[in-house]
Amino acid sequence: MLTGKRVLLIIGGGIAAYKSLDLIRKLRGQAASVRCILTAGGRQFVTPLSAASLSGDKVYTELFDLTDEAEMGHIQLSRDADLLVVAPATADLMAKMAHGLADDLATTALLATDKPVLIAPAMNVRMWQHAATRRNLATLRGDGVMVIGPNEGDMACGEYGPGRMAEPEEILAAITAALAPTARPLSGLRALVTSGPTHEPIDPVRYIANRSSGKQGHAIAAALAMLGAETVLVSGPVHEATPPGVAIRKVETACEMLEACKGAGRFDIAVCAAAVADWRVESQSGRKIKKRHDGGAPKLVLTENPDILLSLSQNNASRPRLVIGFAAETNDVITHAREKRTRKGCDWIVANDVSPETGIMGGDFNTVHLLTGEGLENWPPMSKTDVAARLAQRIAEHFAVG
Ligand code: CTP
Repeated sequence: MLTGKRVLLIIGGGIAAYKSLDLIRKLRGQAASVRCILTAGGRQFVTPLSAASLSGDKVYTELFDLTDEAEMGHIQLSRDADLLVVAPATADLMAKMAHGLADDLATTALLATDKPVLIAPAMNVRMWQHAATRRNLATLRGDGVMVIGPNEGDMACGEYGPGRMAEPEEILAAITAALAPTARPLSGLRALVTSGPTHEPIDPVRYIANRSSGKQGHAIAAALAMLGAETVLVSGPVHEATPPGVAIRKVETACEMLEACKGAGRFDIAVCAAAVADWRVESQSGRKIKKRHDGGAPKLVLTENPDILLSLSQNNASRPRLVIGFAAETNDVITHAREKRTRKGCDWIVANDVSPETGIMGGDFNTVHLLTGEGLENWPPMSKTDVAARLAQRIAEHFAVG
């Protein structure tokens, strides 16, 4: 998608710099050419040699380097690209950019460029939330700088919150959107995604849950939003950050999840990736159930939860044009998936084997089979983000044809 596009990647000094190496690989995988500038801080985290090996090009580090200036002056370097990407964009780099400082090669190139600039901020939560950074961000946005992330999550410094650099796939998608704006084939469509587990309370302190992490569902919401769909993500309790550009509805139970889906309006696409608990406790106790001293255990009476996928697939005027379910199985994956597609009335099923030995539940990788009305596709093992990107692409192709 990025054939012939030239990206000047400025790697700032943050722990997230290692992710920028993966970004180089991904950009080159899309046939873009990448040239890197490493700041002095960036060189504390990744070496010029790693960036040069991955980019297949010279890496620039110094402003006053006679050899570099003879080969390509810093002004030309800043303009000989279609897009400048700063990843990670530290608080210091953002501040310098906002104020037009140019005291090293990176900031000079950013000031001298006549090309669009995308930044992927990464810093400590407090630094991100500081009034100075807020002001600098507003200035940069006002100057037309594009911003991807940061995401919310655990930070290398041990704190939690917004400040983690966006993932390489997200930065790649933002670069693609900036350089190839036509690559938003789902614009104008609305998508609903369910994700994560549900928690079904037993009493005020206990609940029934499952091992779903929400990684796959959240990645699908991100991928659909990247392709331009107006995306609503209805999520059970997870530790995943809300993907950029996605509207979130946080719920706990299956009943709340159904209500949130119904209340979110009409959709063209629905992807049910949530691991919804099949049952809830029939009558949950308003008080903590106390341990019995005669050694006996309480008996929980369960009742069935509403089936969200089944309900969304129902053939009525508000049915999304494409309804996709998941079939997480531990045996006879394809047989169960076929049966589930018929029983639930959805259009496609993404089936996967979630036996403990696969490591899929909670892990970053997935091996899926896509069952559509036309047949079965066996996809090779890949990361959950790649599964999401491929599924979003398949959905886009479906709407392009349909
Ligand atoms: N699903 C749902 N609401 C439920 C149960 C499941 O929306 N109450 C959706 C899931 O999000 C998934 C699909 O239905 O897309 C299949 O879920 P799964 O748990 O695999 O199937 P079940 O119908 O629960 O059948 P079983 O537990 O027997 O495998």
